[in-house]
Amino acid sequence: MGRQFFVGGNFKMNGSVDTIKSIVNNLNQAKVDPNVEVVIAPPALYLLLTREHLRPGLEVAAQNVFDKPNGAFTGEISASQLKESNITWTLTGHSERRVILKESDDFIASKTKTALDHGLGVIFCIGETLEQREANQTIEVVTNQLRAVAKQIQDWSKVVIAYEPVWAIGTGKVASTEQAQEVHAAIRAYLTKEVSQTASDNTRIIYGGSVSEKNCNELAKEKDIDGFLVGGASLKPAFVDIINAQSS
Ligand code: PGA
Repeated sequence: MGRQFFVGGNFKMNGSVDTIKSIVNNLNQAKVDPNVEVVIAPPALYLLLTREHLRPGLEVAAQNVFDKPNGAFTGEISASQLKESNITWTLTGHSERRVILKESDDFIASKTKTALDHGLGVIFCIGETLEQREANQTIEVVTNQLRAVAKQIQDWSKVVIAYEPVWAIGTGKVASTEQAQEVHAAIRAYLTKEVSQTASDNTRIIYGGSVSEKNCNELAKEKDIDGFLVGGASLKPAFVDIINAQSS
């Protein structure tokens, strides 16, 4: 069985009641390839609104989750609260949280584990900075980020790995198909070696970083690219073209 193509939309801290309703309406009416798994991640404030308006079959993700089940953690949201509200996915490890909020590999791994333990799917993001790429550390960096999670979880069936080179996020500088495929293949090789053949065969590895309707078709042809995590373009009607990249 092949891996189902997966496209996530990460709205980041963008949108309002009106714009999110309009994005959701657009998706509801769009011709979306039924073979693609589509998950959108609005800001926390709009999760319920999005779930209420989005048509069944399209899923909603939180952009963040905390690693404790409940308690005195002001400002945080738990995995069980998300699950109860039909928010079935969460992102973890996005580079903006790694860099701006100083989240460590271990903290991200702990959040990933808690989310999985509560039955959520996790879009787990990894990727190197420009400095690390130029120092030839890309594979080492992504491997370390993966290893932190592999130490805490056994079952990868509800994990989607998003490879997002930090230098390509929001910059308009997309990784070349070769650059992306090379890292995706290295991630898959890591799963074969350090986790299991099943995890390697079945885990979706998606690419993120300036994905647009212009570059998605070429990227989608690569054998280890199983979909996309889309930031800026997920707020635009062209998001539908990216969802359908494999079939168009
Ligand atoms: P971008 O963001 O598509 O705007 O580059 C991707 C992401 O941060 O997930």
